[in-house]
Amino acid sequence: MKKTILTGDRPTGRLHLGHYVGSLLNRVKLQNDYDTFILLADIQALTDNYDKPEMLKENIFQVACDYLAVGLEPEKCSFVIQSQIPEIAELTVLFMNLVTVAHVEKNPTVKTEIAQKGFGESLPLGFFCYPVSQAADITAFGAHLVPVGADQAPMIEICRDIVERFNRLYRPTLISPEPMYAEFGRLPGTDGQAKMSKSIGNAIYLSDDENTLSKKVMSMFTDPNRITGREPGNVTNNPVFTYHDAFNPNKERVAELKELYKAGGENEEGKPILGDVTVKRELAAALNETLGPIRERRAEFEKQPDFVWDVLKAGTEKGKARAEEVMASVREAMRIDYF
Ligand code: TRP
Repeated sequence: MKKTILTGDRPTGRLHLGHYVGSLLNRVKLQNDYDTFILLADIQALTDNYDKPEMLKENIFQVACDYLAVGLEPEKCSFVIQSQIPEIAELTVLFMNLVTVAHVEKNPTVKTEIAQKGFGESLPLGFFCYPVSQAADITAFGAHLVPVGADQAPMIEICRDIVERFNRLYRPTLISPEPMYAEFGRLPGTDGQAKMSKSIGNAIYLSDDENTLSKKVMSMFTDPNRITGREPGNVTNNPVFTYHDAFNPNKERVAELKELYKAGGENEEGKPILGDVTVKRELAAALNETLGPIRERRAEFEKQPDFVWDVLKAGTEKGKARAEEVMASVREAMRIDYF
């Protein structure tokens, strides 16, 4: 039997290039070898969006279009809507007893997020506890492997701790998941910040049209010391080159661009040998080539909401059946299967 993958996204907006290199590409590859469940984590999205639940439905649809457009196939890969699987909530409550407040407090991802969002005294308990709920997401489907971005490492760790405690305390029942990190790692934002993110406004979306994409690329952050384009430039910590590395299939040309950029200088006519505009134009072209077919497929799916919702419904039903099985074994292990 195939092993199981569980991974997920918060449906708070469309997916962007950071998702593409950080997780989507990996999922497309892995779906052939694993029984794959992808969770649209709407309950988790509510932990910091509880005041706007009405945005979830549209975002679930948009994210599903992104999944289909990049080549996730519903026959291999179930798209599961988290809120429709009450077993996850049930398991979360049981897991709450197996992890301490101190342990969650130390989780670096949650710690950073709490600081970033400036919750202060108004930190919702639901947000604080989402790592426990994410541990339930993973185990409720009996996942062996969790392909995620490296920022999720502390989440997998807490999950493994909880599983170990559960299995020791009650009976060996739950599968301890292994994390798998994407080859490329984290993609910086167009502004050069460490992370591409909807909330920072530095993202290029899979659904951006050619014009929008080109505009975003042309206004990208590069080496701030390059004023005239004649200065020797820096290609590390320069998102334009990071994107070339990630998306330009012509590796030779990328190597050449890097050499010319690092050297700087001007030609016989007194013009820069390689200006930033040229580097950006070539990047926009490479990106448009990668995204073109994705964009076309996406537009087709967007026109067929009934099909997309059917895919979501079928995936959710398959996920529910799996979670019911796992939950039955949990109840049995805990001797709370009374009738
Ligand atoms: N926390 C993840 C993110 O923000 C989304 C997520 C929810 C997830 N449940 C999951 C990822 C389970 C992997 C496994 O990207």
